[in-house]
Amino acid sequence: MNLSKPYLTTRSLQPENQETPIQFIKNNIISERLFFRRNHFSYPNLTYSSYWLPVNGHVRNPQLFSLQNIMSLPSKALTVVLECAGNKRSFFEPKVFGEQWEKGAISQGVWKGVPLKTLLQLAHIKEGALEVVVEGYDVGKRTDTDKVYSYARSLPIEKALHEDTLVAYEYNGGPIPFKHGFPLRLIVPQWYGMASVKWVKQITIVNRAFSGPFQTVDYVYYPKKDSDEGATPVTTMRVNSSIKKPLDREILTTGVHEINGIAWTGKGLIVKVEISTDSGQTWTEVKLRNKDQYSWIDWSYDWEVAEKGEYTILSKATDSHGRVQRKEPYWNRKGYGYNGIDRIKVKVE
Ligand code: MTE
Repeated sequence: MNLSKPYLTTRSLQPENQETPIQFIKNNIISERLFFRRNHFSYPNLTYSSYWLPVNGHVRNPQLFSLQNIMSLPSKALTVVLECAGNKRSFFEPKVFGEQWEKGAISQGVWKGVPLKTLLQLAHIKEGALEVVVEGYDVGKRTDTDKVYSYARSLPIEKALHEDTLVAYEYNGGPIPFKHGFPLRLIVPQWYGMASVKWVKQITIVNRAFSGPFQTVDYVYYPKKDSDEGATPVTTMRVNSSIKKPLDREILTTGVHEINGIAWTGKGLIVKVEISTDSGQTWTEVKLRNKDQYSWIDWSYDWEVAEKGEYTILSKATDSHGRVQRKEPYWNRKGYGYNGIDRIKVKVE
């Protein structure tokens, strides 16, 4: 019996940024222990005994919700992939600055909460509402200015009113773990993880574009190295897949080996995953499992290899919007949204 257990892979400790050991995880619901951690600041100091959530701004009926109020409203539970926009950043060529995430800035679990829409309806948003700003309790200095900021981001009003955008209070059937946003966290299915604000402090409806640095400086695709020309905001997840097994640079014997992994998208569903074991000359469609609206799918393929040698194995996913992983990912200065065809190399001896 093998008693070894996987651990998080540390990228930085202050603030804490750690990867999920995705290659070593067999189930599709990730426990708190193995859930990646992505923070811009130190963890906040909160006093939960007096926790109230204000919903205010461009509304007719500002609200102050207690946790009990929120938990008594109709709720829903959704299995959601949370992928950091910087996932796989280390694979960009040329290399870019920032946390050098490999394949593990992604996790999945069951989030339960009240649709944000319900809270907005109770506050009666006024005509002309454009965005909903969600602010977290964590604060700190950024590297680009001396000003102190809290982590805050806005959602366009349509996404805020989407019935599956949740103010969550449970993860996998228990309270949300502190490092992942206890007691309340926004969950925005289909968007990269930066939208899912942890430790929600305040929700403000605005009638103009919010311009906080976590959406005007960071989480913007800058296609040029030396200018901001062509900048566009980072929003929905791109179609993507990761090979979990075998490991990159693993040494195998001849025979049958299972190749497996996951695939996910921020638009529609994954409809196809193809594998190549000959550097992309030929492709085979593989079996897909558990197609759920916002979760990743597992895929697997039994590879029979009779000849010794080095093999490049690739995986390529397609979604129901016809989006396909590309050989060349879209390079951008801050290294977001990497979704190049996944690639590993193995040696058979
Ligand atoms: N919310 C707050 N308040 N502060 C943060 O630093 N990081 C965001 C998002 N929400 C962040 C936040 C980013 S970039 C990601 S990818 C996810 O939270 C990471 O969530 P996790 O740490 O629970 O994995």
